[in-house]
Amino acid sequence: MEKTLVLLKPCTVQRGLVGEIISRFEKKGLKLIGMKMMQLTDEILCEHYSHLREKPFFGILKDSMKATPVLACCWEGIDAVRVVRTMTGSTNGRNADPGTIRGDYCMSNQQNIVHASDSLETAAVEIKRFFKEEELFEYTPSNLNFMYALDEM
Ligand code: TYD
Repeated sequence: MEKTLVLLKPCTVQRGLVGEIISRFEKKGLKLIGMKMMQLTDEILCEHYSHLREKPFFGILKDSMKATPVLACCWEGIDAVRVVRTMTGSTNGRNADPGTIRGDYCMSNQQNIVHASDSLETAAVEIKRFFKEEELFEYTPSNLNFMYALDEM
């Protein structure tokens, strides 16, 4: 099973969409193995968005991510990284397909509801960035045999 990181951004907290977004991942069948509210800092954001450091929008991106606490979530499932990215949709909510989270809930390139890890390698690094080992949990969902076929697990 893969693990992936999702951040529910400050726009999601402010707009009262936290429950709705978590519910979409739950209904899909992903397993929540860690979740916490945290206030992000320049330090963690510079690391997390290091690939965007030279971009003109980097300053306002960091400010937008510090506007309120975020919810960090770790989801687990077969192919979880790709599944969650597909559910998330294109970066700009105005271009994101209807049916995706960004396509259904936002109109912005920056206030775009969630962050989701973009590869298995990135997910491993990002999960470590936001969670201590003891903040992630192992348990067996009682409906597991109805979520996947026996030959998929
Ligand atoms: P990026 O990693 O390119 O996209 P994604 O979140 O889809 O993986 O960008 C990270 C965040 O930076 C993005 O979610 C919102 C912000 N951003 C802007 O504010 N303006 C932009 O033009 C881009 C490309 C991203």
